[in-house]
Amino acid sequence: MSIGRDIQGRIYRAGLFGTRPAVPTSYDALEAAAQRRMSAAAWSYVHGGAGLQATVRANRQALDAVRLVPRYLVDVEERDLSVDLLGRRLASPLLLAPIGVLEMAHPEAEYAVARAARGLDVPMVISTQGSVPMEETARTLGRTPRLFQLYWSRDEDVVRSFVERAESIGADAVVVTLDTHLLGWRTRDLDLGYLPFARAEGIAQYTSDPAFRALVEAREPFGNTPRPRLREIPAALRALRSMRHHWPQRVGHRDPRPRAAVETFLDVFSRSDLTWADLARLREMTRLPILVKGIQHRDDARLAVDHGVDGLVVSNHGGRQVDGAIGSLDALPAVVAEVDGRVPVLFDSGIRGGADAVKALALGARAVLVGRPWVYGLALAGEAGVRAVLEHLLAELDLTLGLVGVRSVGELGPHVLA
Ligand code: FNR
Repeated sequence: MSIGRDIQGRIYRAGLFGTRPAVPTSYDALEAAAQRRMSAAAWSYVHGGAGLQATVRANRQALDAVRLVPRYLVDVEERDLSVDLLGRRLASPLLLAPIGVLEMAHPEAEYAVARAARGLDVPMVISTQGSVPMEETARTLGRTPRLFQLYWSRDEDVVRSFVERAESIGADAVVVTLDTHLLGWRTRDLDLGYLPFARAEGIAQYTSDPAFRALVEAREPFGNTPRPRLREIPAALRALRSMRHHWPQRVGHRDPRPRAAVETFLDVFSRSDLTWADLARLREMTRLPILVKGIQHRDDARLAVDHGVDGLVVSNHGGRQVDGAIGSLDALPAVVAEVDGRVPVLFDSGIRGGADAVKALALGARAVLVGRPWVYGLALAGEAGVRAVLEHLLAELDLTLGLVGVRSVGELGPHVLA
């Protein structure tokens, strides 16, 4: 039995009875269906990149430019998708990338995603900007591997507390995202005047955190929140109403002082004065493996390894940070060469199908993080939508392995590329 033929067979058999996949297998159709389903703000936030969107395009161009070469008459009847990562054997080389503010896509947010991940045993990287406290997501994941993605807060107590919580939910690693110490110039969100966090969306890790709560409690009633001017009151009331709708009830998490929590969050989110030396402090805080996410330059890869990280993720945040940047796959070979097998190199940014994953793995990635595609699945059909997108990716990955003449992910290498 192979997952590729299994899922293909299921879809074609259902087709005999007139049923088509509820979640399209073709990426363009998936994206179009999700756009129809999502609010303008949610679509802009998830789909959008920085500036002219040049890096979003570059990510695709880099993947499109790499070509696979099919090989035949090799016995590929049995195929093995498993990989080793951080001392575990994973069922496949796919992980769910950390994605914040999932409540924008679906009211069940991480609950739906974690159920889908659990069903397929696909590890989940839990975001600092989650819509659900990490403990809840972890409980929903059951025994499925989880990693915790960290945005390094300005408040060191919050960082320490997040890391302790990551340990207590059984995370296999802390993944420090380096590329978002400043928010990129995201023109689509700017033109809508829309930042989810300012509406108390995607800050559940903070509002559920004792160290963060202490900061909120210590805050003056109005803090540095500008009081609305008279003519702004109707809009402020509308924003408050939408917050009520979006947040406490929908993800089951209440905050007695949502405005103060938002302002405190905006104060502490991310710092731009971190240097490589700060990684040593994180090392002292935890014995968990530390991965850094966002590496694009071979010198940063070398520095990361020199500073003792246990792995790195080649990523440009899906083109959301620097417009006009290198396509992420174009950055991968030099990083892999620089790291030279000392730690695993993971990859993301632009993966849309199983064949894309095969290309990244052939270029030396140990595993691949999937981002936007499953968010679109979530928007379309909650848990079932995430599951469908992951199944389609796994199926195509499995079939592509066989069609390029290899029996396992471990056998992939430059020899399958033109
Ligand atoms: C992200 N990404 C992200 N990364 C991270 O480390 N923490 C986070 O909270 C988020 N949040 C987030 C939200 C949304 C809506 C998107 C699209 C992306 C980046 C993510 O982990 C991954 O690097 C990209 O999604 C990869 O690009 P593609 O493949 O989705 O285009």
